[in-house]
Amino acid sequence: MFERPRGTNDWGPEEMAKRRFVESRFVQLAESFGFREVSTPTFESLDLFTAKSGPGIVRELYTFKDQGGRDLALRPEFTAPLLRFYVGELRSRPKPLKLYTMGNVFRYEEPQKGRYREFSQLNVEIIGGAALPSDAEVLALGIGTMRAIGLKQVKARVGNIGILRSLLPFDPVDQAVVLHSLDKRNFEMLDSELRRLGRPELAEPLRKSIGLAGNASILAEAQKVLAGASPEGFDYLRSLGDLLTAYGIPPTDYEFDMGVVRGLDYYTGMVFEIDSPNLGAEKQVGGGGAYSLAEIFGGERVAQTGFALGLDRLVMAAEAEGTIPAERALDAYVIPVGDGMRDRAVKVVTKLRVAGLRADIDLVGRGPTKNLDYANSVGARTAVLVGEKEARAGSVALRNMKTGAQSVVALDGLAEAIRAS
Ligand code: HAM
Repeated sequence: MFERPRGTNDWGPEEMAKRRFVESRFVQLAESFGFREVSTPTFESLDLFTAKSGPGIVRELYTFKDQGGRDLALRPEFTAPLLRFYVGELRSRPKPLKLYTMGNVFRYEEPQKGRYREFSQLNVEIIGGAALPSDAEVLALGIGTMRAIGLKQVKARVGNIGILRSLLPFDPVDQAVVLHSLDKRNFEMLDSELRRLGRPELAEPLRKSIGLAGNASILAEAQKVLAGASPEGFDYLRSLGDLLTAYGIPPTDYEFDMGVVRGLDYYTGMVFEIDSPNLGAEKQVGGGGAYSLAEIFGGERVAQTGFALGLDRLVMAAEAEGTIPAERALDAYVIPVGDGMRDRAVKVVTKLRVAGLRADIDLVGRGPTKNLDYANSVGARTAVLVGEKEARAGSVALRNMKTGAQSVVALDGLAEAIRAS
């Protein structure tokens, strides 16, 4: 017997229906915002992800060599592939580009509930807009998606990594090490790295600032704590808050949080994470922010911002809050009664399918009683019995599976009768 690899999932029909529901709400909203779908390969050159994603992601990569000896990796996220696509092929298009993509990504993590080695993301990017309106647009779409799924418990935490970077006058590699120690709340490492870099006095304000979270009033406090940081970053967040109000996002849906540092290295400005507080340990359903990758991949400098929502966690949150509607039932189950009725039954089911109904037909050759049991067990709303006597009159017997009421219906009016029952 084979088992599926650790950290992967099989999704049955009920689970897939839930996943498709969540996905479809995201697609609907993203398209209403003017985003358009794109798709990139499941695997890429290894160096696409080692260039700027950061050690966290690189450690978790699934890598392999193909038969031509090329180093490849399964994608751990979509931002680097989308920016590769943008720089290589899309950059002459009118700006801004508003792209979305969905699919599976792979990270070698320690699996637990809500944390898998293969999982799915709903991802958007805006490339080439002005920074502030684009950041507000992605944030509004991120929070809006949670709402469109029906979730009531939504909390976005919004920070600005540009503020922290402006305080750290080091080369990118050293900056990344300091930011990682902050992201992991590893203060021992923070102290020792800042000592190594000759700026031990930065440890105290950095440590203090990441504990500051709340409404816009914490920005003034953070500005005091991080006295050496440039003030624009704080004003930027205030303006962002004003824009979110214009989008109709209530202040209860988000807070400013100076402790949002993010695990990926490419972020340069506004950063955010979205939590579904009822999920426990893996409550972070999404994350994103403004970043610089196009220039690293050989493109010109443009504003880039986006997010990814974890589909698996979104579905868990929707299940926990009971927001997923019941699956649409089978409208009709067609049963040939007696030898020689199969052709006619196939014609009947085909007619119903063409009429846009969900219609199934006996494929086993069971007798009518067993077939009615089956129709019942799969939750069909009606059963259509195609028998010889009715056939002669151009009719079938239609049975309402809930009430048990049965009537003879002319074939021409069958789809309507099923809709009405
Ligand atoms: P990320 O924070 O690494 O961001 O991942 C986004 C979301 O993917 C997380 O919030 C979480 O819901 C989900 N996720 C991450 N790891 C796992 C896992 N092991 N199992 C299940 N779900 C998981 C990014 O990937 C960035 N590329 C987002 C972005 C787009 N930034 C700018 N544009």
